[in-house]
Amino acid sequence: MPRVLMLKDEDPRARVETIDDDRLPERAVTVDIDYSDLNYKDALAVTGKGKIVREYPFVPGIDFAGTVRDSESDQYAPDDKVILTGWGVGERYWGGFAERMRVDADWLVPCPETLSTREAMLFGTAGLSAMLCVERLEEAGLARGTAVLVTGATGGVGSWAVQMLAHYGYEVHAVTGKPDQERWLRSLGAAEVHDRTEFEGEPRLLDKARWAGAIDTVGDTTLANVLAQMEPHGRVAAVGLAGGSALPASVMPFILRGVSLLGVESARVPLPRRRDVWQRIAELPRAMRDNMHHEAIGLEMIAERAEAMINGDIHGRLLIDPSLD
Ligand SMILES: NC(=O)c1ccc[n+]([C@@H]2O[C@H](COP(=O)([O-])OP(=O)(O)OC[C@H]3O[C@@H](n4cnc5c(N)ncnc54)[C@H](OP(=O)(O)O)[C@@H]3O)[C@@H](O)[C@H]2O)c1
Repeated sequence: MPRVLMLKDEDPRARVETIDDDRLPERAVTVDIDYSDLNYKDALAVTGKGKIVREYPFVPGIDFAGTVRDSESDQYAPDDKVILTGWGVGERYWGGFAERMRVDADWLVPCPETLSTREAMLFGTAGLSAMLCVERLEEAGLARGTAVLVTGATGGVGSWAVQMLAHYGYEVHAVTGKPDQERWLRSLGAAEVHDRTEFEGEPRLLDKARWAGAIDTVGDTTLANVLAQMEPHGRVAAVGLAGGSALPASVMPFILRGVSLLGVESARVPLPRRRDVWQRIAELPRAMRDNMHHEAIGLEMIAERAEAMINGDIHGRLLIDPSLD
């Protein structure tokens, strides 16, 4: 009988429970979950600070990696190592904060051979999204060696983006509200570290042109300031809203500098692209996995760490190992 983190519309909102297997959703593939991880969207769901969950009781967790226990699909067989991210799992469908879950075969991708399920979740949705941002910028013609800004740089998406961009030879400028993490950001490959407050003032129509590319995980005034600071024909990948969902910008960067604003979403990326992106992630140097700061927690600790994530007190990744207390 699996242990799960169950959310209910009552106080306390989140409790670890042991449930019968027959309470798991009726879906084709049963996965023993090796690891999950805590993303910003999970923190919104667990704390109730965002309207992510609409039906209770509910098991959150937007991603996991694990081992197939039982399969009614010919796509997967017992003992296959698999990864799940997105598709509404952890939002509409029961998710990964559990020892076991039943999911649709089409939601899974095989875990690349050179990546363990633990390493897969060290990347998780954050790493997948960071790589999608890098690819979006590259497809839009960003030239290697140019200056690229990353906002929310100590977060999951941000810190993977810093490492990936540095690995591919870009000059990475990291923006953070945690000046005490400057050394860590430099160790990930940031050439310069900027204080978040530099990007929080009233955005000008156009500012000094500084960046050829940018990955923005923050939104709102920060994104508006980033847009105003882009070089002619600069490219910005907008992936997050940790600072808010508004966009108080003008059209000037677009019509006077030809700046491109590129949307990135990870939940519904088609399967062939997902497999390719996971393969590209698996081919990154092993040292990058070792460099990633992370804290491993069990199901019982999720609610407390979700509050800390909403308060912006986490850096790096929160790995969830359901076998821990
Ligand atoms: N589009 C997609 O498919 C997709 C996929 C994954 C994530 N996301 C979104 O991307 C964002 C980051 O996700 P994550 O999982 O990396 O979250 P995270 O680990 O919590 O990182 C967010 C980072 O943003 C910065 N931040 C937090 N609050 C802020 C505020 N009020 N103003 C400015 N900066 C703030 C902090 O970094 P510093 O202290 O270093 O500034 C924080 O570490 C979230 O909005 C998430 O929903 C979107």
